Formats: sequence, C-alpha cells, structure tokens
Amino acid sequence: MTSSNDTATRKTILSGSTTTGNLTLGNYIGAVSNWKAMQQDYDCFYFIADLHALTVAQDPVALRERCMSFYAQYIALGLDPEENTIFVQSHVHEHAELTWILTCMTPMGYLNRMTQFKDKSANVKNVHAGLFSYPVLMAADILLYQADLVPVGQDQKQHLELCRDLVGYFDNRYGAGALKVPEPYIPEVGAKIMSLTDPESKMSKSSENEKSYISIIDQPKKITKKIKSAVTDSDTVVNYDPENKPGLANLLTIYSVLSEKSVPTLVEEYEGRMYGHLKGDLAELVVSTLTPYREKYEDLMKHQDYLRQLMRAGAEKATARASVTLADVYEKTGLLPR
Ligand code: TRP
Repeated sequence: MTSSNDTATRKTILSGSTTTGNLTLGNYIGAVSNWKAMQQDYDCFYFIADLHALTVAQDPVALRERCMSFYAQYIALGLDPEENTIFVQSHVHEHAELTWILTCMTPMGYLNRMTQFKDKSANVKNVHAGLFSYPVLMAADILLYQADLVPVGQDQKQHLELCRDLVGYFDNRYGAGALKVPEPYIPEVGAKIMSLTDPESKMSKSSENEKSYISIIDQPKKITKKIKSAVTDSDTVVNYDPENKPGLANLLTIYSVLSEKSVPTLVEEYEGRMYGHLKGDLAELVVSTLTPYREKYEDLMKHQDYLRQLMRAGAEKATARASVTLADVYEKTGLLPR
C-alpha cells in the first residue's frame, strides 16, 4: 500500500478512452500495458470517456452496456481501483462544467484546424457541435485533475497542444494558478499495432470491419481465425520489411511484444518456414496472453453490483480532486459563489 503522503508527492497521470467498440490488442499493447506499469510510480486517473462517445450517435441501451463492459475490461486488464482512480467521465459533472468555461475561450479557428475533426467530419452529413468541440472536453478532462503527464498516441497530440494553450489563454485573462500545463507522456517502447486487414492504418476499436482488430475479450477461436486471415503479401520469405510487407511486419511486431523476443530473433526462428507457421504460433501466443484477462472479465460481468460499487468509489475520489479545480476556476472567472 502507498501512503497518502506519497500520493501528495507523486506526479499525476491521466488518460481515458472513448467507449466505442471493445478494447483491442492494440490498446492493450500500446496503452493499457503502459498505464499498468505507471501505477506504481504515479497517481493515476483513468476514465471511461462516455461523454466523448456521445459525439457520434449512440444507441442508449448499447452505450450503457458498453460502458459497463469497458469498465470491467479496465479492471480485468489489471488497472487497480484501490491504488488509482478509475471512473466514468459522466459520473463527475465537473467535466461538463469546465468544458463550458473553456469553450468560451476556445477560438473557432483553432478547432477548425484539428486534423481529427477534419477526418471524422469529412463524410458526415450532419456534423454536430459536440464533435467540433470534442478537444475542449478532452482539455477539461485533463485540467480538472492538475495532471502532470498525459499518455497519448500520435493522433491525440494536437488535442493536447490545445489543452496546453487553453491554460495560457485562461491565465492571460484571469490570472495563473488554477490550471496546470500538462506534458505529453510518450512511453519509451510504444509499438504501434496496425489493422489486420489494412496494415497501413492503426488497429482501431471503432473499425467497421471486425476482422481488422482483435478484441481483448474475443473467444480463442475468433482470435485464431482473425490472425490466420490477416492480410499479408504473396511472398513466402519471413523478413521484417514494414515498407513492402506491412502486414507481415505488423504480425512480427505483435509477436515480438508478446513473446519479448526481438524481431531479428523471430525472423531467424522462422527462416525457411511459411507465413502459415508464424500465424499459427502467433495465434496461440495471443490466445494464451489474453485468456486470463477474458476470464477475469467474464467473472466481473457476472458481478455488476461489485462493478457499480467500484465505479461509485472511483467517482467519489475523482470528484474530490475535480471539484477543487472547478471551484477555483469559477472563482477566478467571476461566477457568484452559491
Ligand atoms: N480522445 C481520446 C481518444 O480518443 C480519449 C480521451 C478523452 C482522452 N479524454 C482524454 C485521452 C483525456 C487522454 C486524456 O483516445
């Protein structure tokens, strides 16, 4: 156990994920395993970004189920609700409130330049303001907790930059001290896991094509099928060439991370053997890696009362910190105290 003293001196890490689809093997390798590693050294806040999920149309029943399932996946993967604060974004109303204050300070032009907004809105008929101001909500998520470090992928860097700039805008207008400028946290070894069907793009939990990703709660048969049908090239020699053989390179990357063997070692092991051998072995490795997590997940989902209890405790801890920041911001902003 860590004493509260340590908590006061440990730096704060915050990260969340939007509840679309299930957590994937890519999330596990790229994000969650790093979050887990940081639990010892930092005061960590991890949350389910359900308000962010609303930026695209959601079926209410499915959304509720997915948030429950996501929370269980976080816990099953080893995020520790005792040592850390693991909560649901919408349970802490300060997120929506700080978002409004920050929205009133965010230049439209800045949001217009966001590449993720451009991508996400490109082929959408009715683009809503929520999708446009998504990065402001993300800034509020971060600033409420006085986060020092935010582990984010490349695709979220621009959003983090806005968050940092917003602190400057706020300080200029109202004076410094309420909000802390966060730093991006780039993990030392961050393998980027690509789609199994289109290895030029990132493995994404929101992909329409279920074959493109492995969900951490997929059944073994499904995992094996997906890996065996992963897109590779028509060559037969196993070597690591991300440029010309992106599909194979991706499989080698996954293999290397999960087996903790280097890519050159693996290439040597598969010399003279076919892609099929590698795929078969990799499928076994992925199944054996994920099975304990899936079993834990299935058990947690049978105990929804327990999950709700953890959520409530997480929301309470999160609120304790967030409410202090928001009160300070309201004060500085000139809103009348109640
Ligand atoms: N936008 C992030 C994503 O899609 C999720 C997210 C929401 C987040 N709020 C955050 C990540 C705050 C880090 C910090 O991956």
